[in-house]
Amino acid sequence: MKVVVTRKLPDSILHQLREEHEVMMWKHENVVMPRDLLLEEVKDADALLTNLTDNINVELYEHAPNLKVVSTMAVGYDNIDIEEARKRGIKVGHTPGVLTDATADLTFALILACGRGLVGAMDVIRKDEWKSWGPFYLTGPEVSGATIGIIGMGRIGEAVAKRAAGFSMNILYHNRSRKKEAEATLGATYVSMDELLQKSDYVVLLAPSTPETNKMIGREQFDQMKKTAIFINTSRGTNVDEEALYDVLSNQQIYAAGLDVFEQEPISANHPLMSLSNVTALPHIGSAAINTRMKMAQMAADHIVEGLAGRNLSHEVKR
Ligand code: DGY
Repeated sequence: MKVVVTRKLPDSILHQLREEHEVMMWKHENVVMPRDLLLEEVKDADALLTNLTDNINVELYEHAPNLKVVSTMAVGYDNIDIEEARKRGIKVGHTPGVLTDATADLTFALILACGRGLVGAMDVIRKDEWKSWGPFYLTGPEVSGATIGIIGMGRIGEAVAKRAAGFSMNILYHNRSRKKEAEATLGATYVSMDELLQKSDYVVLLAPSTPETNKMIGREQFDQMKKTAIFINTSRGTNVDEEALYDVLSNQQIYAAGLDVFEQEPISANHPLMSLSNVTALPHIGSAAINTRMKMAQMAADHIVEGLAGRNLSHEVKR
């Protein structure tokens, strides 16, 4: 059977797929497979190993009458029309679990970078502006002992809470359902969204991207945050109203933001948010730790082997 792989992956990952199937792999690691070529290649494809940059929509399904499995190398699947896949009997796999720690680490890196102003501090050295140590020079708010508010207490939210507990932070969270275990083991407190926004020093957004979470953090939510609040987003850019975020950061209504995700990716260097010194921005690298990416790639490849053999996918997206 034919498998289309939309990014270059290591040979060791594709070994089994190649033994059992014909594999067409896009040769670039950091360039999106052109849409025209993808639509051409899926015409006779049985499976697709994709990632968050490909739009797997009705148009694609229409071009791929033999498609049986879509396997994404990501935990998020907002780029995939799941309902349409279900109607067409196409199985969809994703990679939960293996990227939890890497993404929580990166979330915490942003918390520390924004709180302690790491990027601005490094700039001082790069620009040769470091004159001397000063009592309040380059000081920022504490991380240890501060209040963190986690919106979306899934696997990654809990892993962030675990790290926050290590920093003696006061942990608040808001989620669709209570997480009694996290409350007991990490001392996390469930609060309403309003209370979380009003009390948190670090507001951390980790909700999945769904129609319900679209722009869930906007003007109304920013207006409730403290003037000293730091907003962190390592979930999806579509969860935030970026115009409202720009406004509150540019007029210092909140202190800073750490962003790994954007409404439009890649975000341009000319985007208004990039002109602000209180923004720390990263190019969607939450899970970009080598072993993590290897595990994600392997899991995605395994799902295709499973699906084409007529078996259930180990991690199938159910709707
Ligand atoms: C995901 O898996 O959804 C991340 O955004 C990329 O690793």
